[in-house]
Amino acid sequence: MYISFPLSFMAFLHFFFGLLLSSLGTDAAVFTLQNRCEKTIWPGIQPSGGRPVLMEGGLELRHQESISVTTPTGWSGRFWARSGCTFNANGEGTCETGDCGSGLYCRGAGGVPPASLAEFTLDSPLDFYDVSLVDGYNMPISISPYDDAGQCQSVVCDVNLNQNCPSDLQVKGNDDETVACKSGCTAYHTPEYCCTGQFQNPNTCKPTNYSQYFKSGCPQSYSYAFDDASSTFTCPEANYLISFC
Ligand SMILES: *[C@@H]1O[C@H](CO)[C@@H](O)[C@H](O)[C@H]1NC(C)=O
Repeated sequence: MYISFPLSFMAFLHFFFGLLLSSLGTDAAVFTLQNRCEKTIWPGIQPSGGRPVLMEGGLELRHQESISVTTPTGWSGRFWARSGCTFNANGEGTCETGDCGSGLYCRGAGGVPPASLAEFTLDSPLDFYDVSLVDGYNMPISISPYDDAGQCQSVVCDVNLNQNCPSDLQVKGNDDETVACKSGCTAYHTPEYCCTGQFQNPNTCKPTNYSQYFKSGCPQSYSYAFDDASSTFTCPEANYLISFC
């Protein structure tokens, strides 16, 4: 036996729970940031114009630590991680890579290239995501959708591209180790490498010897501005794990 409610009551329930669920933000996405590096890292989060700043734009993650942050529906922005940071108790200080110029809390500012980026545009109407090395690389980064019914692809860039970085692209840390690898655009600012001026379209801006270095190590990542075909991913709806190293 089952109890049947009048249709109007069902409609009311549907409406009521719809309101309740939307006020709880069920369409929001959860991002889990995970540090698989040996050392502490300091992720940065930069919203696109008009979107809210999450977690004041920066946080510390020790080895093996992870943290979750909920974004509102329709959020877009990017995640990266800073390395070699020294911050005082007030969060003042700088980083060897990915520094945003305002200490621990980036508050809407981005990181100085080169830094590996995880980029998102949610609910548009699909979620769009990619890993971008267009402005260079500082550490491995991967995006793994979860709660997605298994239908969305991971984007993995787990190779250490600092290791064989061409000498003219290397960024050295305090102990003379290569801590980041510039893109051709970041190193030379030319129209050919940056896809600007007469190279501002996919027919004229092609892979270069520099972009190919990044593409060979991380084939799912953007290695130059018009690298769309193999580097843009979509998902109807999911939460996302972003792993560093
Ligand atoms: C890449 O190409 C430029 C221009 O042809 C050349 O000067 C440079 O040495 C090359 N670099 C590498 C790492 O192949």
